[in-house]
Amino acid sequence: MAKQSHATWGGRFSAGPAKLMLQFSESVSFDRRLAPFDIAGSQAHAAMLARVGLISAREHAEIHAGLERILAAIHAGRFTWDTALEDVHMNIEQALTKRVPAAARLHTARSRNDQVATDMRLFLKHACGVLGEKIRGTQRALLAVAARDGAVPIPGYTHLQRAQPVPLAHHLLAWMEMLGRDVARFAAVADHVNWCPLGSGALAGTTLPIDREFTARLLGFVDARGKPRVTPNSMDAVADRDGYVEFAAACALFGGHVSRLAEDLILWSSTEFGFVSLPDAFCTGSSLMPQKKNPDSCELLRGKAARLQGNLQTLLTLTKGLPLTYNRDLQEDKPPVFDSFDQVALCADVLAGTLAGLTVNRARCETAAGDPALLATDLADYLVERGVPFRKAHHAVGAVVKLAERNQVRLDRLPTAEVRKIHPAFGSDWQQVFDLKRAMARRRGTGMPGPVQIRRQLARWRKALQA
Ligand code: ARG
Repeated sequence: MAKQSHATWGGRFSAGPAKLMLQFSESVSFDRRLAPFDIAGSQAHAAMLARVGLISAREHAEIHAGLERILAAIHAGRFTWDTALEDVHMNIEQALTKRVPAAARLHTARSRNDQVATDMRLFLKHACGVLGEKIRGTQRALLAVAARDGAVPIPGYTHLQRAQPVPLAHHLLAWMEMLGRDVARFAAVADHVNWCPLGSGALAGTTLPIDREFTARLLGFVDARGKPRVTPNSMDAVADRDGYVEFAAACALFGGHVSRLAEDLILWSSTEFGFVSLPDAFCTGSSLMPQKKNPDSCELLRGKAARLQGNLQTLLTLTKGLPLTYNRDLQEDKPPVFDSFDQVALCADVLAGTLAGLTVNRARCETAAGDPALLATDLADYLVERGVPFRKAHHAVGAVVKLAERNQVRLDRLPTAEVRKIHPAFGSDWQQVFDLKRAMARRRGTGMPGPVQIRRQLARWRKALQA
């Protein structure tokens, strides 16, 4: 029995929780990472209590300094966490109580419900900032590959069948867009959680004359013009976990993007493709087959996507059907959020490292992209420019492809006379279509793989990433 340790809520109990219950219900083993946010929240709360006269200036100073010392002890690894004290909030409050008598006034007009909601919003804002920066780091690694080897042609694929040639940069810039949306999404999540729940109490606010706007401002819950943002409903504020779900969803989407990108790299680095070689530092060997070099970083990136989706699913399931307002179930919201944060941070770094060590095998790419059949669509466009309706042009080029296949020659080696038999609109210049450089140069519209567009996009990203 641990009656003593439950000084924070033990008043109406005659017996403390069972040992098994303590073990079952503790969260300090994982929520202690909220300590810096919890302390910032408590310091702002104490400042507000002093401002409205609920504690004295001296008590405020004591609380503030005591919390500073606790934070320093935590950072230095000198703080003893006690699972019997349940969570990060009570561990810190008890430690403060031991140090300063004024600690007994800190929890005035506050509940752990609005406290934990505040901590987590502070954490999420921080996490979104960190991940945004990390993903930008990955984008810079990507940009470096695109700047160095971007002009190398590769086949673009649909249905994993060679479809149309593109410069490598175009494919890399597709990944860049995906990651760019992730960065923007994390910024949006940070904005969505940027509302201060402190002052909502357990669920019904407080009878005491607190100043919520003051606390919000101190904690940085402000809009672009510096106006404080406080949650408008105390019941929603302690029950709402939307921001966690949105954060986990942003992480899961990032995971999905990274897994697609990793899959491309796995294919490209296989002997069958041979477009790229992955850095030794991010691959492993086989314990049996001496020749093997396995793309483990990419495979794990692909695998992490499942874990990130699982975390999102956990949060969605956790919050569905819960009656308002706070329920202890909600303590289970933290491990998936923290795990998603940690894994995305790792994935972004590992992907950046893998990309930084990538080498592009130019000859293999050129051979693969050099099949003139990949420009069959351009040949149809050629006929369209000579007045042939596209459906007819498509059909005619199909017949040309068939003829080349039957004669076992490359598409561009068919005699012009034979081709003209298929459609009279084929002129003596029809083979010019297969000049890859020319084919790319003709793709001038926004978003297309023409050299002018690619240059423009690279410049845009260089500027956006300050690279
Ligand atoms: N550790 C708790 C959590 O993470 C803090 C809130 C506790 N509130 C309560 N009413 N028991 O959810």
